[in-house]
Amino acid sequence: MAVVEDIPRLRELEMLFDNAMNEDMLVRELEVGQGLVYVEDGIIRGYALVRLDTGLLDLTRLGVEGRVQGKGIGGALLRRVYSDAGALGRNTMLTVMRSNHGALRLYLRHGFAPVGLVTGGAASESPSGAWLLVRAWEPAECPMPSEGS
Ligand SMILES: CC(C)(COP(=O)(O)OP(=O)(O)OC[C@H]1O[C@@H](n2cnc3c(N)ncnc32)[C@H](O)[C@@H]1OP(=O)(O)O)[C@@H](O)C(=O)NCCC(=O)NCCS
Repeated sequence: MAVVEDIPRLRELEMLFDNAMNEDMLVRELEVGQGLVYVEDGIIRGYALVRLDTGLLDLTRLGVEGRVQGKGIGGALLRRVYSDAGALGRNTMLTVMRSNHGALRLYLRHGFAPVGLVTGGAASESPSGAWLLVRAWEPAECPMPSEGS
């Protein structure tokens, strides 16, 4: 779980994004949501930021340090995010720029499905807009109480 002490490293990794968040914004993200980190050799290599303030689990960021991309870290973080959502009985949503073909392929492979197009807000940074993707939780991911309990 990401903590305030991780903010400087998350700020470095934010440079992966055109709309990089500054430290104050990251502090706010950890106040209103949660962060997951993937640590290797004592260094945060990847992170995911999520919000739980809607009925869904909203994955607002997924990023992996450039030199270790393509080694399964993003997929591992993603799996953890939607497993946590499933345990809460929530669907997972995210937006991905239509031009970000690599990330889109990753999400589709993990069971996300496009449910619409977003053109305003952050999505307006890309002329073609962004896909809104949802991954439905599966009952098997949410342990049901046993009979009589
Ligand atoms: C997208 C991202 C989080 C994936 O993390 P990752 O650790 O590279 O992903 P994995 O190794 O688990 O899976 C690899 C898959 O990710 C996708 N991918 C996206 N960018 C990639 C990159 N630079 N290198 C390798 N794979 C990439 C591909 O679909 C690849 O699958 P493929 O084998 O079918 O080509 C990471 O590449 C990243 O941080 N990119 C920049 C920030 C970004 O675009 N974030 C998503 C915003 S919605």
